[in-house]
This record gives sequence, structure tokens and C-alpha cells, in this order.
Amino acid sequence: MNSLAKIYAMINHDLKNPRYKAFCLNVLGGKYSQLFTTTPAARKWHHNYKGGLAVHTCEVMVIAQQLANYTDVDHDDVLISALFHDFGKMKAYYFDENDNIQFCNDGDRHVEDGLEIVKELFNPHDNIGELYEIVCNSIKSHANLPEWGALKRPDNNLEWIIHLADMYSSKIKEVHKFIKE
Ligand SMILES: [Fe+2]
Repeated sequence: MNSLAKIYAMINHDLKNPRYKAFCLNVLGGKYSQLFTTTPAARKWHHNYKGGLAVHTCEVMVIAQQLANYTDVDHDDVLISALFHDFGKMKAYYFDENDNIQFCNDGDRHVEDGLEIVKELFNPHDNIGELYEIVCNSIKSHANLPEWGALKRPDNNLEWIIHLADMYSSKIKEVHKFIKE
């Protein structure tokens, strides 16, 4: 199963709240559908290839769900925060004429761009309003440290789960390499 299919499977089977499910399916089938499957997840460090964002997002959703089993954090909140944590990368990176990945702005603004996209996507949907702050805070804190781009430190279990899952996904190749060496 490819990453996008696995993301759809998690939304369809693991999300409990039907309003959240309808919202996520609507977003993935909407104006960002093409970019979501072609954007890289980073310029250099991890998943830096076409479609890397979908692969990385899928990994973060899988790992975050596992971590959530050890807490009382709501699984729907975890899955949705994981799904949206890097949406800003669709506005932050592009491939130039030589297929090199470039920043759209001065430096990496994927956290700020993510907050803008989420505002745009969540605004017309009053019925999922309770998720908005949760998702915004996960976007702001998923990098953990200001020098890594975070706008705030994680300060609850959900935010730590998203950070740890993000960190693990971005290091998986390194871990495998280390184990082989
Ligand atoms: Fe990420």
C-alpha cells in the first residue's frame, strides 16, 4: 500500500469522529491534493524527493498513533495533528528548473505557512472548530526548539507525541543505516 492509500485507510478506519473524517477526506480531495503528493518533506535532511511529504506524513501518523497508546491522549486529535503538522511545506518548498528543492521565501517558513493553510482550511468548517487550536499548537511546537523552527515548545502529551513521531520519521533512514553499520 502506498503512503497516500495508507493515509486514507487511517482516516477511514482509525478516525472515530465522522465530522473529522469527512473534513480530512474533503481536504485531501481538495485544492491541495496534487501538491500533497508531489511536495518534498525537506530540502536536505529527510524525505527530500517528490512525494516525500506524503511518505513522511504517513510515517508520523503511524508512529504517533503507536505512541498515543501509552497515554490518554485522544487518538483522533493525534491523527489529525499528525496529518496537518507539515502542511506548510506545500507553500514553503518548490522544485526549480533543475529539479533542486528551493525555499519559496527567505529561509524555511513551513511552520508559518502551515498556520496560514490550516486557518484557510479550518475557517469555513465551524463544526470542527475545537480542533483548530490543537492543530495550530502541534504545528507551532512539532520542531521542539526555536533553532529548529518551533514557535513554541511542546507542553502537553499530544504535542510531545507529534514532535517525537516527527523526529523519528525524519531519522528512520539514519537509524537503519546505523544498525547496518
Ligand atoms: Fe514533519
